[in-house]
Amino acid sequence: MQQVAIGTAYGTQNLITQAVDIPSPGPGQVLVKMKAAALNYRDWEVVNGQYHEDFPAGLVPLSDGAGEVVEVGPGVTRVGNGDQIVGSFWQGWQSGELADSPGAQSLGGPLPGCLSEYQVMPANGVVSMPQGLSFSQAATLPCAGVTAWQALVTKGNIQSGDWVLVQGTGGVSMFAQQLALMHGAQVITLSSSDAKLKLAKEQGARHTVNYQTHPQWAEQVIELTGGRKVDHIVEVGGPNTLSQSLACIAPGGQINIVGYLGGKDGSVNPLQILQAHATLRGIAVGPVSSLQALCNAIHANHLAPVIDREFHWQQYQQAFAYMAAGKHVGKVVLTF
Ligand SMILES: NC(=O)c1ccc[n+]([C@@H]2O[C@H](COP(=O)([O-])OP(=O)(O)OC[C@H]3O[C@@H](n4cnc5c(N)ncnc54)[C@H](OP(=O)(O)O)[C@@H]3O)[C@@H](O)[C@H]2O)c1
Repeated sequence: MQQVAIGTAYGTQNLITQAVDIPSPGPGQVLVKMKAAALNYRDWEVVNGQYHEDFPAGLVPLSDGAGEVVEVGPGVTRVGNGDQIVGSFWQGWQSGELADSPGAQSLGGPLPGCLSEYQVMPANGVVSMPQGLSFSQAATLPCAGVTAWQALVTKGNIQSGDWVLVQGTGGVSMFAQQLALMHGAQVITLSSSDAKLKLAKEQGARHTVNYQTHPQWAEQVIELTGGRKVDHIVEVGGPNTLSQSLACIAPGGQINIVGYLGGKDGSVNPLQILQAHATLRGIAVGPVSSLQALCNAIHANHLAPVIDREFHWQQYQQAFAYMAAGKHVGKVVLTF
């Protein structure tokens, strides 16, 4: 079989394709024939040596993949040959808090990732794909989908009628918009592009704001909510956006710190947090139980993840370049 790995230097152009033996599943493991893998911003950081943790040459990147079980190891009963599964971003974090699962590790660094024709995973780290979803759609769920679910549902306890602010139209943000709408919430979506905002509105956003033409976008958000402000924010901008988020969070509202696209430095005014009685919460994707809950909700609500473009897995260079250019709405997927 073939797989792609980090070479002797970082950079997508330095990734290497290597032929290796198909692995055998050990006790409690399954062998998966990969059918689709999704790209995340994190994967781009990992292969370019810009993630907050360095991974060595030989690491197979990509945390997210879906495929078919072709062999099960000794002792595996809950998954069988032919099952269509999606792997959890975190392996070893089944439920509850990450801190209570000290051995947990994520796919695509440090564990081998999904840019591989076959992959061995623990049986308790995979979940059956929602019926009706394609492999490509299922592959989008583990990182972006679970992150949005963990922020708004598992932790955020989102309620019908809540106001939700979504920053951007990338993978996490489009899932956040879709899941907020699924829960009867009202969504305001930000983007740098009016064309993308038109798409977000067609997908159900109640209001949209261009954050480039309105750098002080909190003013628009306050006005659009009639002065009420928003109950939940999925923060991907980091220092560039946090002060605006704090200016438009409703009393008692929740800001989920998910990304830091604007950089890793910055200052926060604690008075803004105190005055808003706001909760700021770091999100690190979520456990297997959140992936399972997301899959159940997707099945029950016939939700179709937003895929911008699919590439054949051997076109991974073009796919990474396409994602890095930031022209996508939703997810970029590789098919096998
Ligand atoms: N903590 C976690 O668990 C977790 C999980 C997943 C992702 N993340 C992080 O979350 C971020 C987004 O990930 P992703 O996979 O969704 O990336 P993505 O698909 O590449 O989407 C990024 C989008 O963010 C928007 N954006 C960039 N700067 C912005 C700003 N200043 N204000 C508002 N929106 C802005 C842009 O939207 P427009 O093009 O519409 O302007 C861009 O397309 C990354 O930093 C990633 O590392 C964290």
